[in-house]
Amino acid sequence: MSLLDRRAISERLDTESFGRTMYVFSEVGSTNEAANELASNGAPHGTVVIADSQTRGRGRMGRKWLSPPGCNLYISVILRPALPARDAPFITFVASIALHEAATGAGVKASIKWPNDLLAGVKKAAGVLTEMEVEGEKAKYMVVGIGVNLNMTDKMLAAELGEVASEATSFLVASGREVDREAFAASLINQLEKRYTEFMSAGKGPIIQQWTKRCGLIGRQVEVCEGDSVTRGVAEGINEAGHLLLRKTGGEVEEIVTGDVAIV
Ligand code: BTN
Repeated sequence: MSLLDRRAISERLDTESFGRTMYVFSEVGSTNEAANELASNGAPHGTVVIADSQTRGRGRMGRKWLSPPGCNLYISVILRPALPARDAPFITFVASIALHEAATGAGVKASIKWPNDLLAGVKKAAGVLTEMEVEGEKAKYMVVGIGVNLNMTDKMLAAELGEVASEATSFLVASGREVDREAFAASLINQLEKRYTEFMSAGKGPIIQQWTKRCGLIGRQVEVCEGDSVTRGVAEGINEAGHLLLRKTGGEVEEIVTGDVAIV
């Protein structure tokens, strides 16, 4: 079980600010937690926090993100964008596009699932959790946390995830190839800066376009569950608010703000 080699990540970076300040821990509660603390103490835009393992890894909707050592990537990036708080979902989309590019570069056939999942085949291999400190109507800072199941074996997935193991996978299981964690981390950081810079200069249009191209739900009949409510329809894309657009049987389009989506 090797620990992550900070230098092997740094020497592969071709970024201006992302990863130029970087913390690599063997174990933390949560890299998002650590990054939030660093950001509140003034850490610069682009600061990266990586850990070999997390004891309190967190996912969307208060879920846990299981984070065993020696096999995966747990990474958070601090952003200080001049952005209205309402545009925060787009930072998740930017991260998903970067993640998709890095996965493709690692030889994994991946697709994006709204709002924050990366699938390898039909199973989830990675997720994005964006958190934000708001000041007035603007984001004071954001923390983009990404967890990627890289080299977990089938056995590890079953042991760690129990009954949800059937919905989860890793890059190793999906592609049959072990992924170099440091090389993947660097490629992801490089992509994150590239996509973030594009978004900040070109705005939402190109992001919506690139995200839609990579989203495996488009044109498919899906079901969205949110608490007790279930909505069905054909996924058409996302709008300028980052909401999922579903065309229902009657032809009307419903905007989905939050929920878990499954292809039916
Ligand atoms: C999800 O799909 O629910 C989002 C999962 C995000 C997990 C990552 S792991 C690195 C960062 N630190 C955390 O505690 N969570 C995110």
